[in-house]
Amino acid sequence: MNVLPVSQYYQPQENRYEQIQYRRCGRSGIQLPLVSLGFWHNFGGVDTLENSRAMVRTAFDLGITHFDLANNYGPPPGSAEETFGQILQKDFRPFRDEMIISSKAGYYMWPGPYGDFGSRKYLVSSLDQSLKRMGLDYVDIFYHHRPDPDTPLEETMRALDFIVRSGRALYVGISNYRAEDAAKAIKILADLGTPCLIHQPNYNMFDRWIESGLLKVLDNNGVGCIVFSPLAQGLLTNKYLNGIPEDSRAAKPSIFLQPEHVTDPVINKVKKLNKIAQDHGLSMAQMAINWTLRKPVVTSALIGASRPSQIEEIVKGTQRQSFSEESLQEIENILAE
Ligand SMILES: NC(=O)c1ccc[n+]([C@@H]2O[C@H](COP(=O)([O-])OP(=O)(O)OC[C@H]3O[C@@H](n4cnc5c(N)ncnc54)[C@H](OP(=O)(O)O)[C@@H]3O)[C@@H](O)[C@H]2O)c1
Repeated sequence: MNVLPVSQYYQPQENRYEQIQYRRCGRSGIQLPLVSLGFWHNFGGVDTLENSRAMVRTAFDLGITHFDLANNYGPPPGSAEETFGQILQKDFRPFRDEMIISSKAGYYMWPGPYGDFGSRKYLVSSLDQSLKRMGLDYVDIFYHHRPDPDTPLEETMRALDFIVRSGRALYVGISNYRAEDAAKAIKILADLGTPCLIHQPNYNMFDRWIESGLLKVLDNNGVGCIVFSPLAQGLLTNKYLNGIPEDSRAAKPSIFLQPEHVTDPVINKVKKLNKIAQDHGLSMAQMAINWTLRKPVVTSALIGASRPSQIEEIVKGTQRQSFSEESLQEIENILAE
């Protein structure tokens, strides 16, 4: 890949590494920013390239070094990787070594028995397709996106080990694995000599399953944890306090957050939480992110965004991280209602 003189690319803020803190990812050499940016929504072929590009520029300027993709992000599937490839090529080619770029395979991607789940056949060929779409020689992290009930775990983990040894990825991770399966996968990878760098589960104030088992497994094994949907897809912001705005995820065709998820009991809780946030000089979104980061085993909060200002708001909030015991208890009381 030809790289032009640096002056012909985007010129990021020189003070970008002073804007956000970094946490070590488990017992590894990698540090990740407290906030990472995901490409699940708003980076597809149906979205505006210039807005996607502006979000990546904003994120990078704020010290966000980690960009999270997957084979199926779009729509259409694959197009978020193409968008990222274009942005990288136009703006960030000289900055590749300042970035941690991840992709995944595990959900349906192409017809027939080899385009889904966890076979070696699927994982290796899918990653080859992802690399082509992004114009990369390797990704920094490659994940198995979800457990496969039918493929032997050994085969999937051996495929991850092969992917690292063949130079397609520097590190591997798992996503959506429950505690028991995660422990097994981590052990197999360790025995193969390719340690599991990171686990990517969902975690937010409304969905706390990782607190009962998984976090302990990760901590004990020195595996990092990057939590996705820390804002519950936008519910844990002030966005829906007065109805469903037209430009929100719940109003758009996404099947993942729908108007019926925006219920009165949910919004009443968010209103009370928002009051606590305000008392601490934070926005609701800032408090929700800081809450996920209160546990040191959580390496990074993996957010989505639809505009640059959302990323700015959240990164700014990480500069004021600590919660008193009292405010944590107040939050617990509201969540338990
Ligand atoms: N491994 C997996 O299985 C898996 C699954 C899901 C996601 N992920 C990863 O996690 C990433 C994040 O997921 P997510 O998008 O659900 O995360 P999220 O951070 O919970 O939700 C992001 C949405 O919240 C809203 N938002 C963000 N910042 C805001 C702010 N400051 N004020 C008001 N609203 C704000 C935006 O919604 P609007 O569009 O309404 O503005 C944005 O699109 C994905 O991109 C992907 O990389 C992984």
